Formats: sequence, C-alpha cells, structure tokens
Amino acid sequence: MTHSVPAMPITDATLSEMRRLAREAAKHAYAPYSGFLVGAAALGGSGRMYAGANVENASYGLSMCAERSAIFRALADGEHRIQALCLYTATPAASTPCGACRQVIQEFGPDALVVCCTDDDDRERRYALRELLPDPFGLRK
Ligand code: THU
Repeated sequence: MTHSVPAMPITDATLSEMRRLAREAAKHAYAPYSGFLVGAAALGGSGRMYAGANVENASYGLSMCAERSAIFRALADGEHRIQALCLYTATPAASTPCGACRQVIQEFGPDALVVCCTDDDDRERRYALRELLPDPFGLRK
C-alpha cells in the first residue's frame, strides 16, 4: 500500500522569511535591459528556502526569471519538491509568474502555494499553482 505524505501547513513565520528572502534577492537581480527587478524564494520539501533573482543577457532570449533561478537552486541542492514560491516585485500591484515559470513550478510543485508580494503587504496575492495553470501539460500522468 502506498501512502501520500500530507503537506505540512506553511506557517506565517515561514511566509515572512520567504518574503524577506525574495526582497533581498531582488537587490541582486541583473536586469540592465528591462530594468525590471524580480526576487523569488522557493520553499523546498525539506523546509529549506532558496532565493533567486532574474538574470538577463544581451541576447535577450537567454534571460532567466527569478522564480526559475530559485527553483533550480533548490533542485541543485537536492530538493525534489517545491511547496511554495514567493515572488517579489517593487511594483504597485503584485506580479504573477510568467507562463514558463508556471510550467516549471508545475513540474516540481503541482500543489504549490504561490505568493506574489510587493512593498505593500495589503497588495499581496496568494494563489494555488493550479489556479494559475489549470489543466497543465505533463507526461507524468
Ligand atoms: N521576469 C521574472 O523574473 N519573472 C517573471 O515571472 C516574469 C518576468 C523577469 C524576466 C526579465 O528579466 C524581466 O522580468 C522582464 O521581463
């Protein structure tokens, strides 16, 4: 018999730390072409957190989003699952992850919580990944 491990609830303290990490990471964004600085924090299945920032390139298509840089760091550290992803932008309204990042979150965190924050806590938005990417593509069905 197989058992699925119930996901642990994500505490307010964890979410606060993810916001802090994402804000800090945005300071390290390399975005000379768009000027759009993005920070992210991924919460791995182990409970550890990983920060990421967007990194652009003169050959624009090679640029990498903050969310994917955080998720890839988590995977490189041995994580297999993403429980939550926090995205920070210094914009008036919260930004949601781009389509490519939604698909990458899907791969490792189909049940992930996605928190989109700014400098104004009242404008924070929270989504289940499933809301942002309904009926996802996947080979592992
Ligand atoms: N960007 C992200 O880091 N995450 C997203 O979800 C959307 C876009 C970055 C990519 C590029 O460096 C800049 O924002 C403008 O698109």
